[in-house]
Amino acid sequence: MTEGTSRRLLLKTAAAIPLAFTFGLLVSPALRYLRPTIKPLDLFGPSDQPKPLEDVYFSEKDFPDEWTCLPFMFQQTYKEYNPEGTEVRKIPGFAVKLPTGDVVAYSRICPHLGCIFNFVKDPQECAKGYNFTPAGPVFACPCHLSVYDIAQDGKVVSGPAPRPPRKFEVKKEGDRISIISLEAGGIA
Ligand code: FES
Repeated sequence: MTEGTSRRLLLKTAAAIPLAFTFGLLVSPALRYLRPTIKPLDLFGPSDQPKPLEDVYFSEKDFPDEWTCLPFMFQQTYKEYNPEGTEVRKIPGFAVKLPTGDVVAYSRICPHLGCIFNFVKDPQECAKGYNFTPAGPVFACPCHLSVYDIAQDGKVVSGPAPRPPRKFEVKKEGDRISIISLEAGGIA
C-alpha cells in the first residue's frame, strides 16, 4: 500500500464516523419502537401502592366493645428522587369496631382541606361542637365542621367535605387485625 492509498483510507474512515453516528441517531427511534423499554401494562398484577414502612396491627382483644376507636400511624414509603431514594409519609388513622363486629379503618386526613379529624362517639357532643346532631358515632373535622357517618361507610352527613375519608384495607387472621394498605388515589 502506497502512502497516498493509506492516507485516502484514513480520510475515508474519518469521514465515515460522523455518517455512521448520524445513521445510528436516525434509526434508534425505530429500534426503540421494536424493543420498548417500558413494560406492558399489567392490569392483573399486584397493587403498585407504596408499601408500609412497618406493620400496623391490633389484636381482637383491643376492641372489647362496639365503637371502640383506636388511633394508629401508617407510614408509607414512596420512591423519590432524593439522596435516600425514598420518602416516608405518615398517615394518621382510626380503626373502629362497628356494631356488626367488623373493624374498619380510615385515614384521619379530612378530604376537604386536609385537617386531621376527630372521633366523636356521643351525638350530643357532636351537636355542641360541630353544629350537627348525628344518629350515632361520627368522625368530625374541627376546621370547617365536616361530619362523616361511620355506620354509613364514612358518608358526609354535614359540612363541605366532597367525599368520605380514604379507607384502609383491613385483614383479619385469627386474633390479628392488620391494616394493610390505603385506598388508591392519594392520602387525603
Ligand atoms: S378541612 Fe375538614 S372540613 Fe375543612
